[in-house]
Amino acid sequence: MDIEDAKRIGIEAIYSGARVLRNHFGRIAQINQKGAFDLVTEADTESEKQIMETILKAFPDHAILAEESGVNKGTAEYKWLIDPLDGTTNYVHQLPLFTIAIALAVRDKIELGLILNPMDGELYSAIAGKGAELNGKPIKVSSIASVSNSLLVTGFPYDFNEIVEPAMKRFSVFQQASQGVRRLGSAALDLCYVACGRFDGFWEQNLKPWDKAAGAIIATEAGAVITDFSNQPFSINQKEILVSNGKIHQEMLSLLKIEE
Ligand code: IPD
Ligand code: CA
Ligand code: CA
Repeated sequence: MDIEDAKRIGIEAIYSGARVLRNHFGRIAQINQKGAFDLVTEADTESEKQIMETILKAFPDHAILAEESGVNKGTAEYKWLIDPLDGTTNYVHQLPLFTIAIALAVRDKIELGLILNPMDGELYSAIAGKGAELNGKPIKVSSIASVSNSLLVTGFPYDFNEIVEPAMKRFSVFQQASQGVRRLGSAALDLCYVACGRFDGFWEQNLKPWDKAAGAIIATEAGAVITDFSNQPFSINQKEILVSNGKIHQEMLSLLKIEE
């Protein structure tokens, strides 16, 4: 399979999901709760349906791991990872900071990443080995060389109560050491913003594979360094993610080390 064909279909799929999200924006009739703070709406499920239909129409034998419907059988060689709405809480509150994230893994290696903010039209994309783009133009990470000059971002998972102390401690440490820490509410967007240099670093715990697969390849292809909090190589199944422009990675690793 040609990866450019996959990219073309992935883009078609992401815009089909975006139409759903824009149509439902501000008109959500029903909000279900997967957990105490974990929301799902008809927009999540309808967006996912459109995305899956578009991909499976073109590639009927591909496997899919999608947030709301789980794993769809297919050959294990090609697997699409889909978050049909990343930032559901923002979406429900009509805050236009949310995305759709789609990645394609070939034999478990992420080869393609696509992330779209349907409200501002920013489409981030990357193919392994070919660099990352924002609306077709190359992007790269920032060149900030110290945490004291950096703007950082983090996120809190829905099971936040289980990690509240280390998460707040780290937030406090970075808030004091940097020019500021933001918390946007869409991990995929956080990763894109590191990739294009708006943020210099991002860390979070307990993200799911579909939250980070597309963003990880976009950030990597833009020159970012990605590890866990102990500098181990990144994998989408890991609990921790630290992404930076590379220049502040060691400093961020040291600051992440707190007594738990
Ligand atoms: C969430 C967002 C958020 C992150 C949460 C994720 P969802 O995804 O990415 O930024 O902090 O951990 O679960 O539920 O909106 O798709
Ligand atoms: Ca998500
Ligand atoms: Ca989601």
